[in-house]
Amino acid sequence: MNTRKYSLIDRLILEADKALTTVIGKPETTARLMPDCDLTEHELTAREQRLSVRLMRINEAGEVSAQALYQGQALTATLPKVRAAMEQTALEENDHLVWCQQRLDYLGGHTSMLNPLWYAGSFIMGAVAGKIGDKWSLGFVAETEKQVVQHLDEHLATISVRDEKSRAILEQMRIDELRHGTLALNAGGATLPTPVKHMMGLMSKVMTKTSYWI
Ligand SMILES: [Fe+2]
Ligand SMILES: [Fe+2]
Repeated sequence: MNTRKYSLIDRLILEADKALTTVIGKPETTARLMPDCDLTEHELTAREQRLSVRLMRINEAGEVSAQALYQGQALTATLPKVRAAMEQTALEENDHLVWCQQRLDYLGGHTSMLNPLWYAGSFIMGAVAGKIGDKWSLGFVAETEKQVVQHLDEHLATISVRDEKSRAILEQMRIDELRHGTLALNAGGATLPTPVKHMMGLMSKVMTKTSYWI
């Protein structure tokens, strides 16, 4: 077990490394298999494929943001228990990130060009939430996961039923995000004030609308 105590500077350097790995490298995952392995690859029309690419690009950008959010919180959360939980959840978000990237590659799409921006913004929000206090930080996680599940529901209602492989990824992500939200609430997450929830919704709208195109 690694018992080394890192200084703030050490941790900032480690975080910069994680940021680069998330946006342009191969992030560490839980090594779960992609949920689509046994499914048939149906031929999609050009329109279906274009839609799948755009929606999977949004989901990939969302996972970059989720990763940054958890890393930001892990940096500033005061309780070691909360910090450890954030780091485990971040690994699961990396599974999602890698699955979305692989699916995008297969479909011939590219990831969002604004990923570095999403990472930076979400990291700062996570770090601020972690600094304010663990119950707010956990409440922030719970609300984020709730909004992600809403997006996934919209995508599952929109994406072609013939794109079984993308759907399998989204369905597994939905299960995981629901669990992440419940974990955060059970760990003592507070309900956020309504204006904060609205602001988060607005920011996520900006990200999803932009990532749809670029
Ligand atoms: Fe995720
Ligand atoms: Fe999650």
